[in-house]
Amino acid sequence: MTGSSQVPPPRQVGVGPWTGPGPDDPRLDPELLAAGDRRNVVDAYRYWRHDAIVADLDTRRHELHVGVENWEHDFNVGSVVRTANAFNVAAFHVVGRRRWNRRGAMVTDRYQHELHHPTVADLLDWAAGQPGDDGSGMPVLGVDNVPGSVPLETYPLPRRCLLLFGQEGPGLSEEARAGAAAVLDIAQFGSTRSMNAGAAAAIAMHAWVRAHVFGQGPGPSGRPT
Ligand SMILES: C[S@@+](CC[C@H](N)C(=O)[O-])C[C@H]1O[C@@H](n2cnc3c(N)ncnc32)[C@H](O)[C@@H]1O
Repeated sequence: MTGSSQVPPPRQVGVGPWTGPGPDDPRLDPELLAAGDRRNVVDAYRYWRHDAIVADLDTRRHELHVGVENWEHDFNVGSVVRTANAFNVAAFHVVGRRRWNRRGAMVTDRYQHELHHPTVADLLDWAAGQPGDDGSGMPVLGVDNVPGSVPLETYPLPRRCLLLFGQEGPGLSEEARAGAAAVLDIAQFGSTRSMNAGAAAAIAMHAWVRAHVFGQGPGPSGRPT
């Protein structure tokens, strides 16, 4: 029967059960091979065990770290984690409340290293103990459009750095702004004061990818390379 009232079957993602002789690869999960793999993973990881995927990602994570400060909107946190996964960042940091509703992350948090810092001071201490590009501590760069912020578009992003995003409403705290090596703003041209925090995080992460994976954007002088 055809007709507009007919509801199409839900579109299935992924692959069904493995057919043919069973592959001999310890990274593959016998249960997924038998039942099919409907996870939201790239094709190269089909049927892989979860821990094997994380181990593989660990061999090629970027030096970029990202963090959120005191976010109340869990869906936005999930959005940042999902983008962080897509760009395979080194780790995701949460300042303040440890627990967040993971639904918005669409399971991508399970492939990401997550570190919790009770306060901004704890995050800054942690970063100071990590190697930066010049061997000293890893800089924390705030991302917010506030007085004194400088354009992300012309800022020479260090390879090893932590981008810290503020929460909807108040944005980055005074403490975070004071402790950051710089606060970077994303150029806006409309009437809104700011964009969605998850969208801003995606733009900032992509600026790092353009600079350090594709060699585009400002060089050490701040001029385009
Ligand atoms: C709602 S905004 C913060 C408030 C904003 N400072 C204001 O004056 O209204 C929440 C977060 O989103 C990010 N964000 C949004 N728009 C941004 C922009 N144009 N530049 C940089 N960060 C932005 C920042 O991380 C910020 O802390």
